[in-house]
Amino acid sequence: MDAFRITGGRALSGAHRVGGAKNAALPLMTAALLTDEPVTLRDVPDLADIANMQRLLRELGCESSRDGDALTLHTVASDASHARYDIVRTMRASIGALGPLVARRGEARLSMPGGCAIGERPVDIHLRGLRALGARVTLEEGDIVARAPEGGRLRGGRVFLGGPNGPTVLGTANILAAATLAQGRTIIENAACEPEIVDLAALLTDMGARIRGAGAPRITIDGVERLTGADRRLIPDRIEAGTFMAAVAAAGGDVVLENCPLDALMAATDRLEHMGVEVTPLGGSDPMRMTCRVRREGPLRPAQITTQPHPGFPTDLQAQFVAALSLADGNSVVTERIFPERFLHVAELSRMGAQMFRQGPTVVISGVRELVGAPIMASDLRASAGLVVAGLAARGETVVHRVYHIDRGYSRIEESLARLGADIERIDAEEARAERLAVAARSVQPAGV
Ligand code: EPZ
Repeated sequence: MDAFRITGGRALSGAHRVGGAKNAALPLMTAALLTDEPVTLRDVPDLADIANMQRLLRELGCESSRDGDALTLHTVASDASHARYDIVRTMRASIGALGPLVARRGEARLSMPGGCAIGERPVDIHLRGLRALGARVTLEEGDIVARAPEGGRLRGGRVFLGGPNGPTVLGTANILAAATLAQGRTIIENAACEPEIVDLAALLTDMGARIRGAGAPRITIDGVERLTGADRRLIPDRIEAGTFMAAVAAAGGDVVLENCPLDALMAATDRLEHMGVEVTPLGGSDPMRMTCRVRREGPLRPAQITTQPHPGFPTDLQAQFVAALSLADGNSVVTERIFPERFLHVAELSRMGAQMFRQGPTVVISGVRELVGAPIMASDLRASAGLVVAGLAARGETVVHRVYHIDRGYSRIEESLARLGADIERIDAEEARAERLAVAARSVQPAGV
């Protein structure tokens, strides 16, 4: 199993181009189920989650092929509408296939996704939304089965998508996609406002859908009879950009980010400015594709952060900012309002010398002068990114195990960081362990043997 070996303490410098957004790519890929014409997406990152989604879509009759960073998806068969457990369990975003399938084929069967490392992740709001569009939804042998009303077509309705922790992102994507082919008008209230929803609505509009209001809490969709193919470039990944910003915050340095969606990162840049990290736009006419400079030379100041639905501070950057704040000059308070259990990185960071105290959804961080390298274990995608951020700033060697988690969402992040001057490499953890044991064994052999 791969691991990252990081020797920390080097400031970062150079330039990094931000890639296409994983969390835009996944729902946009499932939208290809809504048409029998090809849909091409550009700037699609080369990630394990994208490959998993391709595998799921292939099972559902949607072929895909890659040409560089372009991915073309083409639904060629519509007889298989069953998303099986062994694929769904690898990726919760599989739930996004449900709406498009039932809208286009009149029936869908998708294995019920379980919880995951970031906590319980129910899908009740997705199902409530589909019911509001007239679908009959049942649970059969661990599968969610959704059937359109008589005639095989969903019908428009009013749908409220709020839950205890705010609106649901993939739930909004699911209902938005399903409503494009429903009969009549659908109004989604308390829709997620994330930029990935805006990107999905833009693709669906290119395909012939009639959508107003994406990016605001009320979205109106007038259903159409059919959708066509389209060709679209994904928005850049705001979480990748924010992760590199957190890395500069922790390790210090001066980095230029190209293709940076600054417009979608205001909550993060607001906190960075507060922490003493300068984020300066250098150019670009599209606020979602800017060139900007991220710089920290002085001390890192503490901050209070509360994760919230967009445009609030994103939960997907919480772990990386907790890692950076562990080195701040004072006390920080970070509260997680989207996934209150998403704190698996805290115990690992403590093993590196971070001083943190967690109570419920809040972590109080007393900044320390330095973190000390240690072997640590990645547990989920963003927690792993937080551990890498800590490793870059720590004294000595950090080995982050199980980096397959990070490969789900970042394309060869170790190569990008190495280009910025970080001392980081991918190693085979088993070989490294055997090497270490051999060195230890040699050092305890008696002299003369
Ligand atoms: C998306 O997950 C992202 N995944 C997550 O990114 C991200 O953390 C999350 O949105 C929040 O921004 C993708 O886009 C593929 P939600 P999603 O439904 O849509 C509760 C990453 O690291 N809820 O918006 O599944 C839920 O428990 C991933 O890239 C219900 O109660 O998240 C949570 O508290 C991890 N019932 C809140 O809503 C439901 O039916 C928001 O979750 C659905 C959700």
